[in-house]
Amino acid sequence: MSEIFVSTHPLVLHELSILRDRDTPPPAFRAALHRISLLLLQSATVDLPTRKVIVQTPLESAEGLTLDARVGFAPILRAGLGMVNAALEILPEAEVWHLGFYRDETTLQPVRYYSPLGEQPLPEVMYVLDPMLATGGSAVAAIRELKLHGAQQVKFVGVLAAPEGIARVREAYPDVALYLAAVDRALNEHGYILPGLGDAGDRQFGTA
Ligand code: PRP
Ligand code: URA
Repeated sequence: MSEIFVSTHPLVLHELSILRDRDTPPPAFRAALHRISLLLLQSATVDLPTRKVIVQTPLESAEGLTLDARVGFAPILRAGLGMVNAALEILPEAEVWHLGFYRDETTLQPVRYYSPLGEQPLPEVMYVLDPMLATGGSAVAAIRELKLHGAQQVKFVGVLAAPEGIARVREAYPDVALYLAAVDRALNEHGYILPGLGDAGDRQFGTA
């Protein structure tokens, strides 16, 4: 069964309140999404593989650890874009594999409109980035693509999830851990998370 990490960090909850507030304008929304992503990604990366290294300080040698995995981020367009800079801030060498999905407004099914995935092998550790896990359709479609293209370990980093989305990912991919700021009450009839924060893409880019 997928592990679920729901943050209780005061800074995460502070940023979440800014994101939820309907009066937060796009620049402040993007800034809060960046900060909350930094905090969530810190938790999501605690178990990255490391190996021992010896480094020479200006005074003598010291034992240390260095990352020992090829890591990639797969932001789901558009809303996941707001998490990418935070991801690259903490892991500048990571690869970014954008995935374009939008939800059909009537069926709520994800429609793929962009994928860079091809013959090239993916990093062994891939993080799906998307602030919203609603029905779970987009997340499941993204995880499926990454696994089909060779990702060995996939993790999902998001901000808000509905119970329906969590259940769907857990059923389809019990090995995928979920890192979240909060689990909300439910989905409305249009597939929006309640109480939620609205449309994460529109709120970032001013297109509501
Ligand atoms: C939003 C969000 C997720 C998806 C979640 O994308 O960013 O990708 O909905 O919903 P689901 O769990 O029901 O699939 P949207 O389709 O609104 O596209 P956008 O990010 O371009 O606005
Ligand atoms: N996508 C969003 O951006 N918000 C929701 O509440 C659900 C899906």
